[in-house]
Amino acid sequence: MATQVSEIELSSTSNMLPAAETFVTRVRALFEGGGDEPKIWSTACEYLRDLLEDEDLKKHSETWPDSLSVEGKPGNLLFYEDADYGFVLNALVKAPGLKTSVHDHGRSWTLYGVLEGGETVTRFDRIDDGLQVPEMADIREAGSHEVIPGYIDFVPPWEIHQEHNTDQRTIGFIVRSQRSGTFVQNRFNPDTGTVDQYDGPVQMPYKLAW
Ligand SMILES: [Fe+2]
Repeated sequence: MATQVSEIELSSTSNMLPAAETFVTRVRALFEGGGDEPKIWSTACEYLRDLLEDEDLKKHSETWPDSLSVEGKPGNLLFYEDADYGFVLNALVKAPGLKTSVHDHGRSWTLYGVLEGGETVTRFDRIDDGLQVPEMADIREAGSHEVIPGYIDFVPPWEIHQEHNTDQRTIGFIVRSQRSGTFVQNRFNPDTGTVDQYDGPVQMPYKLAW
């Protein structure tokens, strides 16, 4: 019976690049096998490493449009949403020089793989012990690192960060535990301590196939 369900689900992914389909199949197997989210997402991170090396995916990304901003909101390409487990495949294409807000990804888990370009990721620690979705928050910069193609930033729930692009186009291929818009994210102002909430990047369906 379980096999039949898998076959039905797979047919819905038949329009994706083979390496992306393989990735989805492997992640679905993690959910089917049980296990907690930290374990599922750290293993999925290893699978994503393989997908990021796929030449066909790199080639396909040359066709992806810039998607950082849609009517003032950040935008993501949306390639796939799993009907059973809710995880999604996205991409974020950043034009040269752009930087994101200081933000978290709310309760979701994120694997942010760099496919092209390079940028600086800065992390922040929350100093106060207020609510997870606050009006004010005391945060401190906790360090920065440069990321290059092949690197995967592992972002657990509520982790605060910011990305600064360099002088080239940077593409992030992103796996999220649920689609943006289905959970609340915080956006922090480190200078004033104010926090506002938003529902994440605009989702723009895009076909991951030739
Ligand atoms: Fe982020």
